[in-house]
Amino acid sequence: MTDLFKAPKGTYDVIPPFSETWRAVRTALSTPPILSGYGYIETPLFEDTALFVRGVGESTDVVSKEMYTFDDRGGRSLTLRPEGTAGVLRAMLENRMDRGALPAKVWYTGPNFRYEQPQSGRYRQHTQVGVEAIGSSDPALDAEIIWMAAHANRNLLGLKNLRLLINSLGCGECRPTYRATLTAFLDKLDLDEATRHRATINPLRVLDDKRPDVQALLVDAPLMPDNLCEACEVHHTTVLTYLDALGVVYEKAPRLVRGLDYYVRTTFELVHDGLGAQSAIGGGGRYDGLVETLGGPAIGGMGFGLGVDRTCLAVQAEGIDLTGADTIDAFVIALGEGTNVPAVKLLGELRTRGVAADFAFDGRSIKAAMKGADRSGAKVALILGQDELATNSIIIKDLATGEQTTSALDLVVDALTARFN
Ligand code: HAM
Repeated sequence: MTDLFKAPKGTYDVIPPFSETWRAVRTALSTPPILSGYGYIETPLFEDTALFVRGVGESTDVVSKEMYTFDDRGGRSLTLRPEGTAGVLRAMLENRMDRGALPAKVWYTGPNFRYEQPQSGRYRQHTQVGVEAIGSSDPALDAEIIWMAAHANRNLLGLKNLRLLINSLGCGECRPTYRATLTAFLDKLDLDEATRHRATINPLRVLDDKRPDVQALLVDAPLMPDNLCEACEVHHTTVLTYLDALGVVYEKAPRLVRGLDYYVRTTFELVHDGLGAQSAIGGGGRYDGLVETLGGPAIGGMGFGLGVDRTCLAVQAEGIDLTGADTIDAFVIALGEGTNVPAVKLLGELRTRGVAADFAFDGRSIKAAMKGADRSGAKVALILGQDELATNSIIIKDLATGEQTTSALDLVVDALTARFN
């Protein structure tokens, strides 16, 4: 026998019944954007490598260590998208959405690829639901985007063990000065080689170090929110005021730094406390300047990426049951000669009328067929035997109560349509 193939390292299959949770999570995460004026966008799974180098930032782990990059047969360097923002902004600019009504707001969902060390909650292919909005610097936009992430997770999915962390990373005005102050502080510390190297690439990222001994050294570190310029300070306070008005509960997290280079001002992360190390189930922020970096006009923007994989883990960790949405209403069973064609016809009619229906394939025994009916989750079994066929009738068996009734064959579709639609 040939060995079975396995899914590539760091990937997994989304199969029933887990896939019901998956679909329900994806629907919940995309509901607030649909309700808030975001149009749906799909972009290619691969882009020019240079787009990510320029857009996400050469110094990030994502670009320097984790990209799936290859040359195509025409000698172009392409990369499987490691995140959504760069490709979506490229598409918005290429399709001149920046010249229409602003802000231009889109939402998207799909897989991203990062060559990471796999562990629970960290995969080489992961799926996000994301939004991007360009052409507005209004703090109300920041609040809208943060509200959407919080609403989807807290209210629509019902997650409780969740914290919303929020920070401001300043802007081109105040961050360089702050960076210099922080670097001077870090220079005086006894840091290991790797951390010191990280400090030279991006000193802010050292603040986010999870190790307690490093955190102990950083107790008195200068923090960005205490060093904002006036405009950033006003922006940040206004965002928080809007969040209060919206009833969004958040925690100020002055050490929060995200792994991508494009953020300025507002940044946020949703952290689930039941997931261990990979606790960020979503995050995002403002990226004024990125549109310009990608060749567009000097307009602001903001977005988020919510991780479908980790949100499913959070839902499971809290014991929230999202299954049941996709089950079958009616299970059709044909018994004996001549019953197959009318049964298949009935199946087609039910489905056409919007009743979810399945069939006992391969003409097995009634016992096997009933087992199939139970397994399908159907509410009723429709049994068409030769006696029923002769009298133009059909047995309807309620699978919850076991109760059995007989109906006229030509009335059953109407009856079930009324019951299940
Ligand atoms: P990100 O924080 O890199 O942001 O990813 C967003 C979310 O995707 C994370 O919070 C996490 O839930 C999930 N995620 C990321 N990497 C993995 C992985 N290896 N395995 C499982 N889940 C993962 C972005 O990608 C930005 N583009 C978000 C954004 C949009 N900012 C502005 N607009």
